[in-house]
Amino acid sequence: MSSFQPYDRPVRVAFIGLGRIYDLNVRAYLDNPDVEVVALVDPSAERRAERQSDWPEARTFASASELAHSGLVVDAVEALLPIPLHPDGVVELLGYGWHVNLQKPICSDLPDAQRMLAAAEERGRVLRVMENYLFYEPLQKLRETIRAGAIGEITGYHMKMVGSGRGGWDVPASSYEWQFQQMQRGRGVLVFDDGWHKLSTALWLFGPVREVRAWIGTTEVVPGIGVDAPTTIVWEHTCGVRGVWDITLAVDMYLRSDYYTNDERWEVTGRRGYARVNRCTGRGIQEPSLEVYADGEMRSYHALDDDWASSFRDSGRHWLRWLRTGEGSLLWSGPEALDVLRFALAAYQSSAAGGSGVDPATVG
Ligand SMILES: NC(=O)c1ccc[n+]([C@@H]2O[C@H](COP(=O)([O-])OP(=O)(O)OC[C@H]3O[C@@H](n4cnc5c(N)ncnc54)[C@H](O)[C@@H]3O)[C@@H](O)[C@H]2O)c1
Repeated sequence: MSSFQPYDRPVRVAFIGLGRIYDLNVRAYLDNPDVEVVALVDPSAERRAERQSDWPEARTFASASELAHSGLVVDAVEALLPIPLHPDGVVELLGYGWHVNLQKPICSDLPDAQRMLAAAEERGRVLRVMENYLFYEPLQKLRETIRAGAIGEITGYHMKMVGSGRGGWDVPASSYEWQFQQMQRGRGVLVFDDGWHKLSTALWLFGPVREVRAWIGTTEVVPGIGVDAPTTIVWEHTCGVRGVWDITLAVDMYLRSDYYTNDERWEVTGRRGYARVNRCTGRGIQEPSLEVYADGEMRSYHALDDDWASSFRDSGRHWLRWLRTGEGSLLWSGPEALDVLRFALAAYQSSAAGGSGVDPATVG
């Protein structure tokens, strides 16, 4: 990555995978002078036709291989592939000489992740694993509040996530197929897929973790399909701060959401007060998205951009700007994504061992 040369012209990008999350990732690319979208790739002709209306000038392909052999010049790709395809898919994309902005999680297992990082290194290309939560304005303001000392020295924090089964946007049946595959290999939709974001925010807020303890449960929602809740995960950061995250299922609860039905909150306690982000993906608590209590007074933030989709726009814009300048952090780089994966794997290892403490650095 040290050899990376920023582009002195708009970056030529292809979308690889045009499914559900394309609807949000695309927001970074629309009206963005840093980029030119030159190709759209998906085996589904229906998806290609649907997305072509956003980019009438772009060429469409059924596979990355077809694109690579088309003669079209591509600098970087937006990889929006089903998780089981991440390892081989990303190695292939890097092999064509393209920088890759990959949707999270990097992949399910450490050896695959290491193989992906090695491929990037070998080809001298950048692998970024995007984490949109780090661009959600209420969470950014929470981090700023903590760092400014507004609630005093931090004594601990709590994250809560309630998965509900009613409300939100439609998810195509084909997405459930690969999600079930993931569940069957022990990488559930709450702890591993959506949970990836919570673990990311923990590392981003308080730095490396030295010990994780977990109790990962399961609830059969349809015969043969178990969802990974109730779950409780606790950990201690190297800085001494402890975090707790509880995941609960409320299958019949209606949750107002423009996207997935996930009711989330983060509450950080300091010696003088607390700060709480009340929601993120869904619109569970209809209060200001960030509230900060200190010294007997509550401060409420009413004007933050708390539309979850904006975090995708800003994460993608950050990447495209990075490709133009090479400046600042990738949020996340490949090695940082590996830390998130180790954190998740430490939770699985702990739960399997009855909740004993696991240092993520020792996983694998
Ligand atoms: N950041 C977030 O909050 C968030 C939310 C949802 C999904 N995601 C991630 O985004 C990724 C995609 O998820 P999704 O919900 O859009 O899935 P999806 O199933 O809706 O879409 C995947 C698309 O990839 C296409 N595809 C399959 N094989 C392909 C191949 N070899 N080459 C090109 N395209 C191929 C499929 O036809 C489909 O259109 C996953 O990594 C998922 O974890 C992230």
